[in-house]
Amino acid sequence: MKRAIISGMGMYVPEQVVTNDDLATVMDTSDEWIRERTGIEERRYGARQKESTVSFATIASERAIEDAGIDKEDIDFIIFATLSSDYYFPGCGVLLQRELGIQKTEIGALDVRNQCSGFVYALSVADQFIKTGMYKRILVVGSEMHSMGLDFSTRGRGVTVIFGDGAGAAIVEATEEEGRGILSTHLHSNGDGAEQLCMINPGAHGGRYDDVDYGYPDATFGSSFITQKMIDSGLNFPYMNGQLVFKTAVKKFPEVIGEALKTNGMSPEDIDIFVPHQANLRISQFVQRLLKLRDDQVVNNIQKYGNTTAASIPIALCEAKQAGRISKGDVVCLAAFGSGFTWASALMRW
Ligand code: UT7
Repeated sequence: MKRAIISGMGMYVPEQVVTNDDLATVMDTSDEWIRERTGIEERRYGARQKESTVSFATIASERAIEDAGIDKEDIDFIIFATLSSDYYFPGCGVLLQRELGIQKTEIGALDVRNQCSGFVYALSVADQFIKTGMYKRILVVGSEMHSMGLDFSTRGRGVTVIFGDGAGAAIVEATEEEGRGILSTHLHSNGDGAEQLCMINPGAHGGRYDDVDYGYPDATFGSSFITQKMIDSGLNFPYMNGQLVFKTAVKKFPEVIGEALKTNGMSPEDIDIFVPHQANLRISQFVQRLLKLRDDQVVNNIQKYGNTTAASIPIALCEAKQAGRISKGDVVCLAAFGSGFTWASALMRW
């Protein structure tokens, strides 16, 4: 049977380091609060007007292509996961194709909007295309430039301090090699949590889900994706019910990892390396204790980069690979939880 392996990885984080103390100069927060609650020490922010979600992704992709030892023209499909797309539309996939200079190949480009679970969802889509034989080499990218869309006033501190910028990319390739590759992926969602971690504006909802006054013009038709009132009231920024997200995450991470293990007749002892979505160090530590994994079996880099949403797993996986923490044949477990709510896992033999 054809299986999909990750044959190359690349990552990029922007140069500008923003510490917790830096944030404390613009909002009422502290290094102590952020470290204690999240484990985050610093994050990276892109250079405004020079860099973007797509420019990060381009560098990460070029590095993944080089790591896989292929030519960029060998890629036959692009899957791009992000919540901070360069344009409202079209998606980032086509922009990445253009920046890579492979638009003449006219390969398909798909955008995935599954936030923190975006990379695992994208990997699962790639896996299905490989298994059916439709494509042989797929570029799967997670990239975010959160810093362009955060509320840097004290009002936004519960969300803003968590997020950082960066990108990770993987070349997902077909192999006939026995025993290697993605063993299974498991994707879940529950739309009841949609407004618990969200950025609803700009959007076409028109206020039909709640009774908030968004300041829509009093007319039967007219442009309403974004109104002055939304901007004045900060309704154009992300919102998170942190405690509920935390509680749900610590329930769903073990559930979806358990599902992956059960499907493959494995138990937690069979995991060689666990790469959780970097949402909060406390969440990862909780899951680690539950699975009884040693520190060297869990990849955590939230301390340096914060939560980079769709980019967090490919960045962590890439760093682990570069540090020689993953060997051929290792059982690698990826798991994510986030906005939607969506959650997902992938189990692979490297
Ligand atoms: O990747 C997507 C998934 N996201 C997550 O998994 C995030 C899950 N949630 C969390 O990680 C935590 O809920 C947070 C780290 C976001 C927040 O921690 P918390 O312990 O749940 O804090 P809280 O929101 O309940 O706020 C506690 C207090 C509040 O003050 P009062 O009302 O007790 O006076 C907040 O106003 O901390 C205050 N606060 C802050 N103080 C300093 C909130 N944010 C900050 C801040 N600095 N940045």
